[in-house]
Amino acid sequence: MGSSVPLGKSRIDEGVQFVKLSKALKWGSAVAVAVALTTACGTSSSNGGNTSNSSGSSAKKVEIFSWWTGAGEADGLQALIKLFQNQNPDIQVQNSAVAGGAGTNAKQVLATRMNANNPPDTFQVHAGAELMSWVDAGKMQPLNDLYQQEGWNDKFPKQLIDMVSKDGQIYGVPVDIHRGNVLWYNKKIFDQYHLTPPKTFDDFFKDADVLKAHGVTPLALGDKDTWEATMLWEDVLLGTIGADKYDQLWQGKLSFDDPGVKQSLETFKKMLQYVNSDHASLVWQDASQLVANGKAAMNVMGDWAKGYFTTDLHLKPNVDFGWVTTPGTDSDFMVISDTFGLPKGAPHQDGAIAFLKVLGSQAGQDAFNPLKGSIPARLDADTSKYDVYSQSAIADFKKDSLTPSLAHGSAANPGFLDAVNQAMQVFVSNGDINSFITQLKSAADQNPLS
Ligand code: GAL
Repeated sequence: MGSSVPLGKSRIDEGVQFVKLSKALKWGSAVAVAVALTTACGTSSSNGGNTSNSSGSSAKKVEIFSWWTGAGEADGLQALIKLFQNQNPDIQVQNSAVAGGAGTNAKQVLATRMNANNPPDTFQVHAGAELMSWVDAGKMQPLNDLYQQEGWNDKFPKQLIDMVSKDGQIYGVPVDIHRGNVLWYNKKIFDQYHLTPPKTFDDFFKDADVLKAHGVTPLALGDKDTWEATMLWEDVLLGTIGADKYDQLWQGKLSFDDPGVKQSLETFKKMLQYVNSDHASLVWQDASQLVANGKAAMNVMGDWAKGYFTTDLHLKPNVDFGWVTTPGTDSDFMVISDTFGLPKGAPHQDGAIAFLKVLGSQAGQDAFNPLKGSIPARLDADTSKYDVYSQSAIADFKKDSLTPSLAHGSAANPGFLDAVNQAMQVFVSNGDINSFITQLKSAADQNPLS
């Protein structure tokens, strides 16, 4: 796919040096919401049903915190837990997943617990700025011994280890790599109207006009949680200004007044004219489903949508749905990596370490990723276990420019992202580009990017 950038010289490798690693978390105000939303999704135990509620550190237990509850999300986690239970039948698992795509609610619950020194034993966190916000707050334990013991130092791409490291200390175990810049399309609809999957924004709008004229919603969007709109914009931004400038923006080296930023917002605003009218009440799975059932033709979403299509809806890649990189990004790979870390004060450290071992193992990654839609973070996974989409993603990851996702916490600190999401919610309804740019600048002033 496009020009190749050697892995060792990827944009992440360069960019991560400059990513501002920590800013004050701004989620403290969400305590009430967080308490209301906490949902322990289940406890599984293979010790003969003896599901003791003991949370004492002597109990053999592990509490796993994530946001993987829904369709396209839960199956991978369940496969991982199953494998863990097979290998550790005496450790009770408490699955404390909190519903809400991209951690919409989970991140608030986690912040409340971490700030109250009541951490889960291990939790899902994106590689990059999001993880580093916890590291800089002094809340995480280094995992170098675990990496050494498990022989992981050369099993993960170096730049991925860099993304979960600070000052030579490693703080996270990556379970997956998701791609964020994918446009999914309904093959039947594209065939029916003799459309070519768009490579450029011009292509996109040509296709979209044909679809609109035939009464088909061109682009499915479900931005109830706002991050979905932020994600669509970040892909448009990347496709407009290119990987170098995209990185410079999040490193605080390119002004939000850059004409490319404005142009990306004009294109994004135009795209919003082609989305389903009920987008504000739908979540990402709903939008993916519109494409699956032919009510819409295209959807821009991370490749957890592929997990949803294949694992939950039993659709076939290249038969029922097709994919291309989002316009203008055919040599870029928007990286989103889910990692798990070990917080200080984790009540069941042994259980947490045992879980991290499974999650970072070849077997763990190959149990999880084929169901989740992601590719393995490890370099030595068994590629025969992956479908045609994931095999192409594995190949692209090795040669494309790797760019960190803003919407999924890698590019910028949580305070900045929070502010961008708030501004985005307003932008989607009023389309005021200048005001949005002003908001971006003030978000960066309050949560510096470099
Ligand atoms: C991302 C996460 C993915 C997937 C997605 C939708 O932030 O990295 O694994 O869960 O949210 O919920």
